[in-house]
Amino acid sequence: MLQPKVLDLNDLIMEDTRLLKRLLREDIEFNVILGESLGRVLADPGQIEQVLLNLTVNAADAMPAGGTLMIETHNVEVDKKYSRIRPFVTPGQYVMLAVTDNGTGMTAETKARIFEPFFTTKEPGKGTGLGLATVYGIVNQSSGYIHVDSALGAGTRFEIYLPLTQQAAPAVSPSALHAAQSPHGETVLLAEDEEAVRTLTCEFLQSAGYNVLTAADGVEALEVAQRLGSSIQLLLTDVVMPRMRGPELAERLRSLLPNLKVVFISGYSEELHGSAGLPPDATFVQKPFSREVLLQQLRDVLAAKVPKPNHQPKRPSTFFLSPDSPAPRAN
Ligand SMILES: Nc1ncnc2c1ncn2[C@@H]1O[C@H](COP(=O)(O)OP(=O)(O)OP(=O)(O)O)[C@@H](O)[C@H]1O
Ligand SMILES: [Mg+2]
Repeated sequence: MLQPKVLDLNDLIMEDTRLLKRLLREDIEFNVILGESLGRVLADPGQIEQVLLNLTVNAADAMPAGGTLMIETHNVEVDKKYSRIRPFVTPGQYVMLAVTDNGTGMTAETKARIFEPFFTTKEPGKGTGLGLATVYGIVNQSSGYIHVDSALGAGTRFEIYLPLTQQAAPAVSPSALHAAQSPHGETVLLAEDEEAVRTLTCEFLQSAGYNVLTAADGVEALEVAQRLGSSIQLLLTDVVMPRMRGPELAERLRSLLPNLKVVFISGYSEELHGSAGLPPDATFVQKPFSREVLLQQLRDVLAAKVPKPNHQPKRPSTFFLSPDSPAPRAN
C-alpha cells in the first residue's frame, strides 16, 4: 500500500531529526549531513520515515557503550566506475541515504542474513528481526537498492539508493507530512511499557496537536483515567504489558468512559500467537509504525461516529515483503 510522492529526503530528515534524537541515548552523538541540491525521489514519506527509524534504532542498539550516528544524503551518479564498487546497483542517477554508526559491527555470517524476516541476534523477547526485512521491503518496492558495509568492531554503514525522479511535481512540503494533524487537540491516554516506544509515540502525538497522558502499564493507565477520566477521548494501548494487559485495560476503561475510542498497538509476536481477548471491532497499529500511519489511524478512529459492527481488525500493511520480492540478500 505504498503512497509514493515526489519527495525531498532532506526535508524529511529535517522533519524527523527531533524525533530521531529522542530515540538516541545521551551517549550517542548524532550528526546529519544534508547533500546540496539534492534531487527528488518518488517514495512514500511514511515508509521512508520507517526506514530511517529502523536503521536508527539498530544503530543505537549496536552502540551499547555510546558512539556516533551519522545520517547523510548525497546525489550519486552510478556510472561504469561507480559500478565497480556497487555492482548490483543499476547504472543511473540516485539519491543516496546513508546511516552510519561506529558500533559493534557484524560478522560476515550475520551480515549475510540481516534482511531475512525474523533474523535477529538479540536475546529472545528483545528483537523481532523484522526491522531490516521491513527496510528491505520498502526500498525494494521503491525501486531502490541497499548496500551494507560492516565488520566486527568497525561499525556499520547502510546506504540506500533511491532512483532520482524526473517528475516535475512539487516536492511534498514538510507541513504536508503533517496532514494528519489533530484539529481539536483531543486527549489521548497512551499505555505502553517499552520506554523508547512510549517516548517516540508521545512525540508523534504531541507534534500533531494531541494532549497526551502516558502510563507504563495497564494499572498505571487505570489510575490516570480515574483521576482525569472525562478529558480522555482515546486510549492507545499496547496489547502485552506487565500487571494488566491492553484488552483488560480497554474493557475496564470503557465501563468508566462508554464513548472512549480504543486503538491497540500490536507487536508482531502477539499476532503470531493470536489476538486472544481482543474485542472484535479492535483497531490496530502494527509495531513498528511510522508517524504518518499512527496519526492516520487515530484520525480515522476519532472521526468514526459509532463502532461499525463486524468491523475487521485494521492492520496497516506497513512492512511486509511483497510476495514477489526476490529473497533478500546482503551485499
Ligand atoms: N547497525 C547495526 N550494527 C550491527 N548489527 C546490526 C545493525 N543493524 C542490524 N544489525 C544486525 O541485524 C540483525 C537484524 O536487524 P533487524 O532490525 O532486522 O532486527 P532486530 O534489530 O534484531 O530486531 P528489531 O528490529 O525487532 O528490534 C540484528 O539483530 C543485528 O544482529
Ligand atoms: Mg532492528
